[in-house]
Amino acid sequence: METRILGISEKDIQVAADILKTGGLVGFPTETVYGLGANAMDSEAVGKVYAAKGRPSDNPMIVHIAGEKEMERLTDVITPDMKRLMEAFWPGPLTMVVPARPEVPRVTTGGLDTVAVRMPDSSTALELIREAGCPLAGPSANLSGHPSPTTAAHVYDDLHGRIDAIIQGEPCKVGIESTVIDMTSDKPMILRPGIITPEELSTALGKDVGIDPAILKKPEIVKGDGLLETGEDFKPKSPGMKYKHYAPKAEMIIFKGDPEKVRLAIAEEKLLRTGYGQKVGIIIYDNDNPKEAAHRFFAQLRAFDKSGVDVIMAAALEEDGVGLAVMNRMFKSAGYNIREVK
Ligand code: TXA
Ligand code: MG
Repeated sequence: METRILGISEKDIQVAADILKTGGLVGFPTETVYGLGANAMDSEAVGKVYAAKGRPSDNPMIVHIAGEKEMERLTDVITPDMKRLMEAFWPGPLTMVVPARPEVPRVTTGGLDTVAVRMPDSSTALELIREAGCPLAGPSANLSGHPSPTTAAHVYDDLHGRIDAIIQGEPCKVGIESTVIDMTSDKPMILRPGIITPEELSTALGKDVGIDPAILKKPEIVKGDGLLETGEDFKPKSPGMKYKHYAPKAEMIIFKGDPEKVRLAIAEEKLLRTGYGQKVGIIIYDNDNPKEAAHRFFAQLRAFDKSGVDVIMAAALEEDGVGLAVMNRMFKSAGYNIREVK
């Protein structure tokens, strides 16, 4: 399949929308990461998304909408809490898991009776959804298991020849995927951390939100097929959490501990590794600016892979606020290969 590269002109958005209307797949920009769009209400089109990504079929899609009205096509239940979050954070990097209407194909929801919905903060994405006239299923536009794409070139690297078109839009501002919050019970529960933090969510709701304990937990065994074999107590509510994720080709080690000691430990390990003739990539972010870390992380993993490094050494950030979201990705990328620095 020839993958068309499109721009963001009205004409090109029209071409992309026509592809979506006829059941095709289009890579599109959002403020978080690039998405792989398909008509969310068309089972066959969504089926092609799983195939193009090599994604397990019980891992459901996030459905993207362009207006609050479209929410009514997807769910019968819009609670005051949901309204508050829409008001505070949409369009933006927040996904809400809500009860799904029967019309939402179970291929889209990975067989669940709930559906994950978000309104992206990207004018290109919003125009595309409006022109296509349907909500868009949009997982991150990477091959399953690879780091999420934050530029159109990343999407091309992973998916050219496997999808119909890529819209070459702006690089992503946020750089990691949206915060996912489950709104189906009284106490909202964060299933995936993002740059909208637990604190911001509880402020907007005027009540506590829960955090799924699976978020930072180390699963037990990683099997060859990318499935994680997990202990009895590892029961994430978000199916995506149980798969191997975001992995660079290089070996990756996370150094955790006092920042100064971590720097030294990384420098020492670098000397050792370069002595063996290895090529080393180093990731050290400013703890006071985790948003910048979020913005750069996936792109850096991809850049290191392109330059052929053998090992990536990363300094851990503090696991609160946006740092929690970055560390959730970093732990998975490294396959939980963590070195405690004393
Ligand atoms: O920022 C984002 O959310 C990006 C952009 C493209 O919008 N999309 C994205 O989609 O990250 P994806 O498919 O890579 O991740 C979706 C996550 C997965 O962890 C999945 O398991 C979870 O959301 N999810 C989707 N539907 C769910 C549901 N009904 N219940 C619980 N978790 C759900
Ligand atoms: Mg993804």
